[in-house]
Amino acid sequence: MTIKPPRKPLIPGWLLVVLAGLLVFGLGVLASSINERRAESKLARVQFLQPLDEWESDPAKWGVSFPRQFISWESTRDAATRPSFLPESTGDYLAQRPELVVLWAGYSFTKAYNKPRGHYHAVEDVTATPRVDASTPATCWTCKSPDVPRLMARDGVEAFYANSFDHYRSEITNPIACLDCHDPQTMALRISRPGLAEAFQRQGQDVTQASHQEMRTLVCAQCHVEYYFKGKEANHLTFPWDQGLTVENFKQYYERSGHVDWVHAISGAPMIKMQHPDYELSRAGIHAFRGVSCADCHMPYTSEGGLKYSDHGVRSPLMNASTACQVCHRWSEADVRTRVLSIQGTTRAALSRAERVLAEAHLEIGDALSLGATDAELEGVRHQISVAQMYWDYVASSNGLGFHAPQESARILGRAVDLAQECRLETQRIRARKGELRPLEMPDISTKEKAQAFIQPYLEAQKAAAAGK
Ligand code: HEC
Ligand code: HEC
Ligand code: HEC
Ligand code: HEC
Repeated sequence: MTIKPPRKPLIPGWLLVVLAGLLVFGLGVLASSINERRAESKLARVQFLQPLDEWESDPAKWGVSFPRQFISWESTRDAATRPSFLPESTGDYLAQRPELVVLWAGYSFTKAYNKPRGHYHAVEDVTATPRVDASTPATCWTCKSPDVPRLMARDGVEAFYANSFDHYRSEITNPIACLDCHDPQTMALRISRPGLAEAFQRQGQDVTQASHQEMRTLVCAQCHVEYYFKGKEANHLTFPWDQGLTVENFKQYYERSGHVDWVHAISGAPMIKMQHPDYELSRAGIHAFRGVSCADCHMPYTSEGGLKYSDHGVRSPLMNASTACQVCHRWSEADVRTRVLSIQGTTRAALSRAERVLAEAHLEIGDALSLGATDAELEGVRHQISVAQMYWDYVASSNGLGFHAPQESARILGRAVDLAQECRLETQRIRARKGELRPLEMPDISTKEKAQAFIQPYLEAQKAAAAGK
């Protein structure tokens, strides 16, 4: 038997490499031409019928060139921005959950706390809330109006923050609109507020380098985030992101900075109020992980007579699940509903449990205080309740009732309940040392009015103590 010499390959190896190289090059050219064509078609759609001023804050002026975006933006005025089959569809959170009045005793949120409305109402709502008064800093305007970038440029960012809210009342009239997210010369997405850019900078990143898909989220992250006012006089709007975006990172940040929002009127605990870390919590969810942007769900592409545009009626995506969800999920509308309802129902149950336990803990610490426990004895439990409530609030103040990151929300709420229960056990020991062995009888706080009346004497005592100092 003879052994055949190996057959010469049909195509020599070197030629294969060259052919493969050509193929890759060809595909690259094709892809880049597709990209360019896409960019072209975008720019073709973006044609100005009338040039815009550098600081044009009136959306109607932008609407001359971009009527579809303008009309859909205007629909954020509508009252129905959320389907009524979901939990907590209506206004007054304090009426729905009176425990909140106890959780925030000593802080302005006990006066009023309503569900957010559409962007169209931002200026109207911030000027109407009783949480705003003569002592409110101008910083509170930052997330409400496209008039803000102009005034920051005119007066300087530091001077803007250091001014009073009242100082700008007559100059801030337009609610959240085009200039908040777009460059008026090119229509490119743009970051118009310093807070986000500064937070990126402190982490060694440059927000102007973000990709197009990231920008479809980051324009929202200018406002839908946790923040605080740094410095008693400066009131510099600051994101506590230096250690990262999780609730543990925030705890670390605030403990290091020593920042406290208020002292609790019943328990005397130093407290932090979360604002609305929508962006941060959503980072932990599957959609962010898979690169889905806020705009994908809240501003989906819509067709009108063959014209495709982004629906600027930012609202609950369940008002239009077919464009918001069903482009990616082949589920029926009923299935989409069921899934969201189930996530939100689970989150609501966990939130309610945490709210009950937190309220009990504050009241028990308050009782220990009235039994003669000293600040030194209470330091540990006050710290525990403060952390537990911050964890709960990270989820509670985030919009969407857990939808953006269901597992992370459940994890954090579980931790909040654990911490609050540990705090209650320790407080029980302190009360026992003071001779009180019976559990504390809970007051009737079953309505907002009853809860507000219940905390009133504590608020007065706190005020009197502060005046006597
Ligand atoms: C909250 C941020 C935000 C506001 C406010 C906003 N836009 Fe947009 N806009 C976007 C996003 C996100 C896109 C999608 C951009 C992309 O993917 O290229 C977009 C896209 C556009 C486009 C490109 C075509 C399209 O529809 O995708 C135009 C034109 C436009 N917006 C006009 C406006 C006008 C006019 C207003 C004010 C009436 C406005 N926008 C307000 C975020 C915003
Ligand atoms: C300039 C700050 C700012 C920007 C930018 C911004 N928002 Fe808002 N958003 C707000 C404020 C403030 C409210 C509450 C308004 C009120 O209650 O009057 C709000 C409300 C909402 C609501 C509730 C609407 C309702 O009717 O229930 C949704 C949803 C929302 N924003 C999503 C987004 C998304 C998605 C983006 C990015 C595409 C975005 N926002 C960009 C400040 C902003
Ligand atoms: C741009 C595409 C896209 C859009 C738009 C989108 N999703 Fe998803 N969704 C995904 C991807 C990707 C996953 C992860 C699935 C996987 O990896 O198997 C996912 C997962 C989910 C899950 C299961 C994971 C979890 O967190 O429990 C639910 C529920 C869900 N989506 C609901 C919705 C709803 C409701 C909407 C509309 C408001 C929506 N999605 C819009 C892409 C999308
Ligand atoms: C996968 C789709 C999806 C993505 C991505 C997404 N959301 Fe949502 N969002 C939802 C759904 C679903 C709800 C719950 C709607 C409801 O309760 O009516 C919601 C609720 C909200 C609400 C409360 C609306 C209301 O009326 O109560 C706000 C505000 C919000 N999202 C902001 C954001 C921001 C900011 C981002 C990006 C950081 C984002 N969302 C990303 C689907 C999404």
